[in-house]
Amino acid sequence: MSEVSARPVPLHVAIIMDGNGRWATTRGLPRVAGHREGAKAVRRTVEAAIAQGVRYLTLFAFSSENWRRPPSEVADLTFLLKHYLRSELNEMHAQGVCLKIIGERERFGPNLTAELTAAEARTANNSKLTLVMALSYGGRADVVAAARKAIASGMAPEALTEENFAALLDTKGIPDPDLLIRTSGEVRISNFLLWQTAYSELLFTNVLWPDFGAAAFAAALDEYATRERRFGARPA
Ligand code: FPP
Repeated sequence: MSEVSARPVPLHVAIIMDGNGRWATTRGLPRVAGHREGAKAVRRTVEAAIAQGVRYLTLFAFSSENWRRPPSEVADLTFLLKHYLRSELNEMHAQGVCLKIIGERERFGPNLTAELTAAEARTANNSKLTLVMALSYGGRADVVAAARKAIASGMAPEALTEENFAALLDTKGIPDPDLLIRTSGEVRISNFLLWQTAYSELLFTNVLWPDFGAAAFAAALDEYATRERRFGARPA
C-alpha cells in the first residue's frame, strides 16, 4: 500500500469488468454498443487510477472462456482491443503508463500479438502506472503453466517455494492485488487471478462496467480504506 494524504491507497487494483451486455440490452442496443462504452470506461479508469496514486491496475479484458462466445462477439471484442491500443497508446505513453499483457496473447493471431508486444516494449520504462491487461487469461491455466515450468526446470520438489512459484506465473514481478473489484452485481472470481488474490480485499458493486469511472473508482477506494487487512494473522 502507498499513502496519499491520510487514506491508505491500494498499490494494486484488479478489476473484473462486467455488465457491458446488460448495459446495452437494457437500452435496446446490440451488445457491441456495451463493449464500445466499456472501452471508454477503461480509459476513464486508467485516468482515475493515475489521479488516485494507484501504481498497478489489472483489467480482465478477455478471459480464456470468452473464446466460447459467438464468433461475431469475439471479433467485436478483438476489434475494440486493437482499436483501443492504436488510439490510446500515444496518450498512455505520455501519461507514463507501462503496459503489460498477461494471458495467451498468441491466440489473437500474429499481427495483434506483435502489436501488443511492441506496445509493451515501447512503454517498458514508464513508471507512473503499470496497466496489466489480462487477455485470453485464465487463473488455472496460469497456475498449470507455472507448474509445467517448475517441472521442466528439473528443480527438486522441496526447492519449490511460494516465492519462486509466484515468479513462474504470468504476473512475475507484479505485486498481488490489494483490491479486487467486480462490477455488475455478479459475485464470482470467474477464474481471474486465483493465486494472486489470496489476500485481496474483494469488492462487488452493482455499477455496470460502461457506467464505471472516476466516481465509482473513488467510492471503491473509500470502501477499501475502511477494510482492516490482517493477512490471516490476528493482533496479539
Ligand atoms: C463483460 O461484459 C466484459 C467483457 C467481456 C470484457 C471487457 C471488455 C471491454 C471493456 C471492451 C473493450 C476492452 C478493451 C480493453 C478496450 P459482458 O459482455 O459479460 O456483460 P454481461 O454479463 O452483461 O453480458
